[in-house]
Amino acid sequence: MYIFKDYYHNEVKLSFADQPFSNSPLHVWVICVYKDKWLLTKHKERGLEFPGGKVERGESAKEAAIREIKEETGGIVEKISYVGQYFVSGKFENVVKNVYFATICSLEEQKTYYETCGPVLLDHIPVDVKQREEYSFMMKDSVLTYCLSHLNLQL
Ligand code: GTP
Repeated sequence: MYIFKDYYHNEVKLSFADQPFSNSPLHVWVICVYKDKWLLTKHKERGLEFPGGKVERGESAKEAAIREIKEETGGIVEKISYVGQYFVSGKFENVVKNVYFATICSLEEQKTYYETCGPVLLDHIPVDVKQREEYSFMMKDSVLTYCLSHLNLQL
């Protein structure tokens, strides 16, 4: 278990065990790769981030992950696997989020990308991502770095 502060100084607990905080997490986040590039989306308010969002009623967390990737980037999942789960102690509420790793086989143009501007493909995520205004706060805590090193991947 890793414990650290996020960009907003909220406490985050991250674990690579099988859903240690909740069997029915309400949020998902997916580290996506498409043709040797990172597949992110540009959220209209938060900026660049890996796709993700809320689990809808009647949906599993994995199903939500696959849906969110399609809605926010047009990405069609080839393979997706569970990576870990984190718990954020927020000022007003707590958030439990599953992290997945997905390989994407195609990008289908969507009529709407909802609250995002659609897919963004990157060769590299900058090592100084924490200082970059164009990136979302979700990319600026140790969830990303610990998950990538758990997956043996580099920025
Ligand atoms: P919407 O209903 O989609 O507008 O969401 P919201 O603004 O209510 O936020 P959400 O319920 O997704 O999260 C509430 C708070 O939890 C956020 O303001 C963040 O402080 C925190 N939070 C949510 N997701 C993450 C995350 O991935 N990482 C970190 N560190 N904090 C998060």
